[in-house]
Amino acid sequence: MGAMHSLSSPLPPEAKCTRCRSRATIRLSSHHALFCPECFLVFFHRAVSRAMKEFGVSAATPIMIAVSGGKDSLALWDVLHQLGYPVEGLHINLGIHDFSRASSGAVDRFARSRGLSWREVFLEEIFGYAIPEIRRRTRRKICSVCGLLKRQLLNRLVVREGYAVLATGHNLDDEAGRLLGNLVRHRRQYLEKLSPFLPSPHPRLPIKMKPLYRLEAGEIRLYCQIRGIEPVDSLCPLSRGATSHAFKEALQFLEDKMGGTKRDFLFGYLDRPAREASMPGFGTCARCGEPTYSDLCSVCGLKSRLDGKKGKETDAVPNIPAPQIKGS
Ligand code: AMP
Ligand code: FES
Ligand code: ZN
Repeated sequence: MGAMHSLSSPLPPEAKCTRCRSRATIRLSSHHALFCPECFLVFFHRAVSRAMKEFGVSAATPIMIAVSGGKDSLALWDVLHQLGYPVEGLHINLGIHDFSRASSGAVDRFARSRGLSWREVFLEEIFGYAIPEIRRRTRRKICSVCGLLKRQLLNRLVVREGYAVLATGHNLDDEAGRLLGNLVRHRRQYLEKLSPFLPSPHPRLPIKMKPLYRLEAGEIRLYCQIRGIEPVDSLCPLSRGATSHAFKEALQFLEDKMGGTKRDFLFGYLDRPAREASMPGFGTCARCGEPTYSDLCSVCGLKSRLDGKKGKETDAVPNIPAPQIKGS
């Protein structure tokens, strides 16, 4: 493992790993943490284990992973395999010339390197048309048509192969971008489906999960680098200008100014029902009688902390005197 691991600017040689105190080469600003490569891998595995625990999927559950050949799905395959899940890859070859050849090649190389099994299906064989021909024959945006086909075919193939669970490589950036896009367009029906875990609503639909939803794109790129995973190095040539990219870029712009924005935005939304349910009604501050959610209102709480530091006894914040009216 070389020393070039920084997520932004290189760290000075004296930087220490937050976990083990050896030399840190990785800075995760949104976690306020510095890591050595080994501890970064521990962090990464824990993020996936935590998601799997939340989903309630035991390590004995066979999982089919939709693998595109990109960094996310290969990293996911690698982690779930390491965590001991019985996993198999499923790749849909979309027939997009060099891009599809390279994608399928990346899946094959990765699977061989780990001795993992996978299946490839060709869109043209099962649907009658590959993506470039569909693009010529329809006016609809090809990315959304392609997404629709991939979703349905993955569902069908997974159930047909006898699996109950489908995992995809969607990451935190994908999910936060999707949230922003759906909020901007007020698409309530899609917002409801924005969950990293969807139980099966129909016997012909698998359980769907996104075990990488706690990890950012940059963290996944780094994971691939450290684990020697070589994803396909090009983007789909037909997806240039896709609106999903614009929403992700907008969030990254905010993230670069205010670290943690993407996480706060997504997790704040996902945790929302629990938060609303647990939101207590208004009570009354024990000291000053103002409305509050807890025993003390936040002003009396602040005053008591300040007084405590000065060794003073705390009283209620005194009644605020009526302001003098000036200039009359
Ligand atoms: P994307 O919509 O391209 O960002 O892909 C999101 C996820 O869908 C990936 O992480 C994969 O799990 C899955 N996926 C995308 N393309 C394919 C494909 N051609 N074959 C199988 N799975 C795919
Ligand atoms: Fe579907 Fe590019 S991957 S249009
Ligand atoms: Zn360490």
